[in-house]
Amino acid sequence: MTVAPQAPLLFFDSGVGGLSILGPARAALPTAPIIYAADSAGFPYGTKSEAEIAARVPALLGRLVERYRPRLAVIACNTASTIALSAVRAALDIPVVGTVPAIKPAALLSKSRIFGVLGTDATVRQPYVDRLAAEHGADCTVLRHGSAALVELAEAKLRGERLDPAIARDALSGLLDQPEGDRMDVVVLACTHFPLVEAELAAAAPRRLTFVHGGEGIARRILYLTQGQSWPLTPRPGKAVVTRLDSEVARLAPALADYGLEQIEAL
Ligand code: DGL
Repeated sequence: MTVAPQAPLLFFDSGVGGLSILGPARAALPTAPIIYAADSAGFPYGTKSEAEIAARVPALLGRLVERYRPRLAVIACNTASTIALSAVRAALDIPVVGTVPAIKPAALLSKSRIFGVLGTDATVRQPYVDRLAAEHGADCTVLRHGSAALVELAEAKLRGERLDPAIARDALSGLLDQPEGDRMDVVVLACTHFPLVEAELAAAAPRRLTFVHGGEGIARRILYLTQGQSWPLTPRPGKAVVTRLDSEVARLAPALADYGLEQIEAL
């Protein structure tokens, strides 16, 4: 089936985290029409139960696909992907790219064979993470820590608020203070919000740590899945779609515009 040039790519997250996935994708496909959907009414996901995420995400993606007719959807959220990726794929008739913790690159990079997975509480307890660790890091100690405060920090940063440096420090301590944490050399940013505060994490680290995440890999995957398709000749403004349009969301407008999202509307 031919795909119309104006058919968008759909990115989905609970909040602004998916922008860390959208950034590399826009760099790879600068004229791709973009719909960026944030489930602001359901935010945050990381403190919700598996059942809540599994009930919410496939239904929302279904509504978004019906309304915006994207050529491909990216679940730009580790929490939603590790819990609901297969249900979303089963429900939609377009390609769906998930975001799962970058454990494979971390295992390749770690010299001490001790690395950390920093995600949401919901992500770090997923069997999906156990499987990735067993498959790619069987000879490694894989430390895990969930931080809801770091998710809030990323949202606050993009609203232009003043940030408390203790939040990044505490999130890293959750890994560094575990047994063997003193030898950890790589940290997987296993929540899409966290690359948005990588500078704050690096500044809070007591020594040099390597941070890895999946943004570039997902951009390559999108390129692969859309090869041969046509795109507009020039970039058009993208659109942010939120499930609740309130004053907190309105304060994100300048940050969203930095990612080409000039318009915000409610689903
Ligand atoms: N950005 C999301 C993730 O990658 C979830 C953040 C949240 O809503 O708790 O896990």
